[in-house]
Amino acid sequence: MNIKEQVLKQLEANRGSYLSGKALADSLFYSRNAVWKAVHSLIKDGHKIDAVTNKGHCLLEEDGVLSKASIEKYLTGDASSFQVEVYREVTSTNNMMKRYAEEWRPEGVVIVADSQTMGKGRSKRSFYSPSDTGIYFSLLLRPEGSARETLFITTAAAVAVSEGIEKVTGKKTGIKWVNDIIYKGRKTAGILTEASVDVETGGLSYAVLGIGINVSDPKGGFPPEIQDIAGSLFGSETCAGAVRSRLVGEIISVFMGYYKNLSKKEYMETYRNRSVVIGKQVEAYSGNDCRIVRVLSIDDNGVLIAETEDHEEIRMNSGEIRIRQIQEGQ
Ligand code: BTN
Repeated sequence: MNIKEQVLKQLEANRGSYLSGKALADSLFYSRNAVWKAVHSLIKDGHKIDAVTNKGHCLLEEDGVLSKASIEKYLTGDASSFQVEVYREVTSTNNMMKRYAEEWRPEGVVIVADSQTMGKGRSKRSFYSPSDTGIYFSLLLRPEGSARETLFITTAAAVAVSEGIEKVTGKKTGIKWVNDIIYKGRKTAGILTEASVDVETGGLSYAVLGIGINVSDPKGGFPPEIQDIAGSLFGSETCAGAVRSRLVGEIISVFMGYYKNLSKKEYMETYRNRSVVIGKQVEAYSGNDCRIVRVLSIDDNGVLIAETEDHEEIRMNSGEIRIRQIQEGQ
């Protein structure tokens, strides 16, 4: 850790309180001048730090800059050993993490970005990832089970995102099969799991779990092609303070709780309870085929069970659905 990171870690641990330059310098074994320079460099990076003579330095509650220190503070349980890397802008956190995976980095790294220039969504779509208003992060996992685990990772992650959001913001979101997070009828977060199968064992050599959340509305609004379907948690309200960092930390912590016993599928009950599609009429797309079906349930393997207008039961492992009537409030 360089001096800037060490100073920020101390200020983050005491967010809202003043730490004297002397106390910082003594505890970190640097000169007061070196600490002062580090604080000024952090302010130049955009951090909201109050520096008062005879009082010291204080990381203000409203500081919203994503940092390793602000995220690590909220990692608990199995997630507390995660290595966190934070970037202002990347092409895609998933692409970057796939390179790490090919370089044999071990499980337990998370890349967090403030913006992405080539954010990826499912089915080769893009994921709009502007700066300051969203969070985009990817986890590197090396699960022990078969390739089927990929679907379990996605379903567990959907529950973790929905629960993490509720824990941090109090807002209740719904899950649209397979992995869209819906708030007030609009897609507010998405999940993309990309995996590589080991041809010799048939197991997974790695999985990259990517999560993107629209925390507030982008400054110029959403682009026209998604403005009817996309939404955010806070809308036009600015979301100040550590909310984005807390969301990342809490979501990873909840997810890791499920991940250690992934095959027990403890998350499936909550997944069904938070589903916005069960009991609904939807358009079900599979390849070029589209059918109007009513969703009956989602089984423990994440398979969608539905019935056609002719009362024929169908089961979908993958594909896409579009809701015809959206539940009020979610
Ligand atoms: C979808 O809803 O289609 C999935 C969206 C997944 C977006 C996230 S943002 C972080 C990670 N990096 C990417 O390029 N995509 C995922």
